[in-house]
Amino acid sequence: MYDLETKIQIFAQLILDAKNIVALTGAGLGTESGIADFRSPGTGLWEKVNPSEFASIHSYVSDTKKNLDFMLEMGMNIFKAKPHKGHKALTKLQKLGKLTGILTQNIDGLHQKAHSKHVVELHGTAYEAICMGCDKVYPITIMIDQVMSGKFSPSCEVCNGLLKPNAIFFGEPLRSETLSQADKMIEACDLLLVLGSSLLVYPVAFYPRKALSLGAKLAIINIQETDMDYNAEVVIHDKIGDILPLIVSIVEKEVEKGHQ
Ligand SMILES: NC(=O)c1ccc[n+]([C@@H]2O[C@H](COP(=O)([O-])OP(=O)(O)OC[C@H]3O[C@@H](n4cnc5c(N)ncnc54)[C@H](O)[C@@H]3O)[C@@H](O)[C@H]2O)c1
Ligand SMILES: [Zn+2]
Repeated sequence: MYDLETKIQIFAQLILDAKNIVALTGAGLGTESGIADFRSPGTGLWEKVNPSEFASIHSYVSDTKKNLDFMLEMGMNIFKAKPHKGHKALTKLQKLGKLTGILTQNIDGLHQKAHSKHVVELHGTAYEAICMGCDKVYPITIMIDQVMSGKFSPSCEVCNGLLKPNAIFFGEPLRSETLSQADKMIEACDLLLVLGSSLLVYPVAFYPRKALSLGAKLAIINIQETDMDYNAEVVIHDKIGDILPLIVSIVEKEVEKGHQ
């Protein structure tokens, strides 16, 4: 068993040795910005609400008001959230030329707020609404304004269809163009960084397996254990905001040395 300092060194060396690095981020990256994840013991949203009653497409259509109350509360928390040291460390890594892109399960837009580039939002975004009738996309404010003025079936101005947040609900497929972008990134990477994901939600949970089968290496930062821990070169069970900046500062020093 290596100590934390050694694991941080190993993590940094993996980054320095790799040529095409992709980060796969999950709700655990949002917690230090004040956004609850789903599965952390004690604080995860699924300890408070039943997933089949909220955030599934079936429950949204059958009881829109109840779902909107829950989503508005979650949304308001997301809109006021700011990126933390972990998001910023990823942006830094990208500026150092050591991160090709980010595949995120998060809908919170915090990678973009931290100025990261090439972010693929696998589960959509909380910042948009989409019409379930004609697929027209609106800023989420259009939908919120309707709900706040008492219209609990917010509707599309073109076809009058029901609007929903443009995030993937349980029971909905992921977008095919998003999936093919993600596939290309996973196929091309030689190092996959898994940051703050329980790796229990498919198809994302499949990406580390796919990357490994194609010869890439895996490095994980997650408070809890994941099923992929034994397949990773290094696993750190700690907070991303505490650990990732330490790793990136080692990488930065080495990259700077290389340029001198
Ligand atoms: N921020 C968001 O946008 C947000 C918030 C809640 C849920 N979601 C959705 O939740 C689904 C759940 O899947 P998931 O795997 O992303 O999340 P998850 O809740 O299943 O797992 C989160 C993991 O992150 C770990 N974690 C929590 N805080 C951490 C920290 N500070 N540092 C390191 N690890 C930490 C936990 O131990 C847990 O294993 C996703 O589909 C996502 O779309 C997103
Ligand atoms: Zn419409």
